[in-house]
Amino acid sequence: MSESAERFLELRDKLTIPLKVAEKIQETPDAYSFRFDIPADQKGKFQYRAGQFVTLFLSVGDKHIRRSYSLCTSPSHDSHFQITVKQVEGGLGSNYLANQINSGDSIYVTPPQGTFFQQLERGQDAQYFFFAAGSGITPVFSIMKETLTTDPSAKAFLLFANRDEDHIIYKDLLAEIQQKFGDRLTLEHQLSQPKQPSDNAGRCDETRVKKFLEAHKTSDNVQAYLCGPDGFMDCSASALKQFGVSEDRIRTESFVTVIPAEAAATESAPAEELDGVVIGDLSAPTTKPSKIKAIINGQSVEVDVDPEISILESLINAGQNPPYSCMDGACMACMAKVTSGKVVQDDHGILTDENVEAAETLTCQARPASDNIVIDYDNL
Ligand SMILES: Cc1cc2nc3c(=O)[nH]c(=O)nc-3n(C[C@H](O)[C@H](O)[C@H](O)COP(=O)(O)OP(=O)(O)OC[C@H]3O[C@@H](n4cnc5c(N)ncnc54)[C@H](O)[C@@H]3O)c2cc1C
Ligand code: FES
Repeated sequence: MSESAERFLELRDKLTIPLKVAEKIQETPDAYSFRFDIPADQKGKFQYRAGQFVTLFLSVGDKHIRRSYSLCTSPSHDSHFQITVKQVEGGLGSNYLANQINSGDSIYVTPPQGTFFQQLERGQDAQYFFFAAGSGITPVFSIMKETLTTDPSAKAFLLFANRDEDHIIYKDLLAEIQQKFGDRLTLEHQLSQPKQPSDNAGRCDETRVKKFLEAHKTSDNVQAYLCGPDGFMDCSASALKQFGVSEDRIRTESFVTVIPAEAAATESAPAEELDGVVIGDLSAPTTKPSKIKAIINGQSVEVDVDPEISILESLINAGQNPPYSCMDGACMACMAKVTSGKVVQDDHGILTDENVEAAETLTCQARPASDNIVIDYDNL
C-alpha cells in the first residue's frame, strides 16, 4: 500500500464512523438518496442541525477521495438520516456512489458539520425564501422542513430550478410537504427545458427571481437560503438585495470547491517551480520542511509535517485541535494566515484574491513549501 493510501486510511479511521446504507432510493434518472443506519452507540455523534453536511471518505479503485454531501433530512421533521447524490458527468465520487453503493454497504462518514442554517427568532412571522437549483435542494429541503416544523408562525417560499420535470429531486415529497403545511409553503418550479408546456419555462434569471419576490414578499422579517451554481446564486442575491433584503440575511452554500483552471491561473500568485497556488512569502526558498509552527487558540505549537499531505492533516496527526469542517476545501473553517514562510495549494479553490493577497490559506488544501513556516489560526 502506498504511503498516501496509508495516511488516508489513518485519517479516515480517526475522523469517520462506518455507517450502513439502510436504503438507496432513486430520486431522478441521475440522483440517488442514501439513508443511513446510525448505530445506537453513535447516535450522539450524529445529532445534527438542519442544513449540515457530512463528508464521505471513499476508496474508488486505487483513488482515495473525500466528498461532502448535505443532509436533506431535518432533525425536527424526519426520523431518518439521509443524503442525496446527483451524478456529475465524469465525477469520481458521485458516480461511484450512484453505480456501486447499494443498500447493506457501509460508507465511512464524518459526523455532521456546517453552519448554513441560522434560525431567526421564532414567533415573529418570518418569511423564509429558498432558491435552489438541481442538487442544491438538499440543504434547502432540510432547512425548509425545520423552519416550518419548529416555528408555526413562519412561512416558506421555494423557487426550485431544474432542467425538466423528470429531474426534479423530491418532486413527490415536495408535493406532500406542501399539502402538509398548506398555505405556509409556497412552491414554484422553473424548468429550463420543460417536456410539457409550462408558464415557468426558461432559465432562472434575475427577472424570474424578482417576479417571485414581487408576488410573495410582504414582510421585512425575511431570511433567504441559496444553493446552486454560482450564476444562479448571484442573480438570486442581486434580486433579493433590490427587494431590500440585507446581505446578512442572505445565506449561501456552494457545492463546487474549485474555480475553473483558466481563472485560477490568471488570479494566482506565481507558482515558481511549484505546481499550484503559492501563498505566503513568495521569496522564501522552496524546501520540503519537516516541521512547522502553528498558533491555535492562543497556543504556539511546533509539529512534524509531511510535505506530501495537507497542513491540517499533519496537525491532526500530531494530536492538535485545529479548526476544520469539510476537509474538502469548501467551508473555509480551516482558514489560517501564513505569517512566515510559504505554502502551496493545488488550486485557488474558494479563496478570493483578497484572501491570497492577505496570505490566507485553506489548511486542508495547503502543503508546506518552505522552511520557517508559521500558520496563525487566531488572527485572520
Ligand atoms: C458542503 C457541500 C455539500 C454538498 N452537498 C451535495 C449534495 O447534497 N448533493 C450532491 O450531489 N453534491 C453535493 N456536493 C458536491 C459533492 O461534494 C461533489 O463535489 C460532487 O458529488 C462531485 O464529486 P465527484 O467526485 O463526482 O466529481 P469530481 O471527480 O470531484 O469532479 C468531476 C468534474 O465535475 C466538476 N464538478 C464537481 N462538483 C460539481 C458540482 N457540484 N456541479 C457541477 N460540476 C461539478 C469538477 O470541477 C470536475 O470537472 C456538496 C459539496 C459541498 C462542498
Ligand atoms: S475544512 Fe472546509 S475548507 Fe478546509
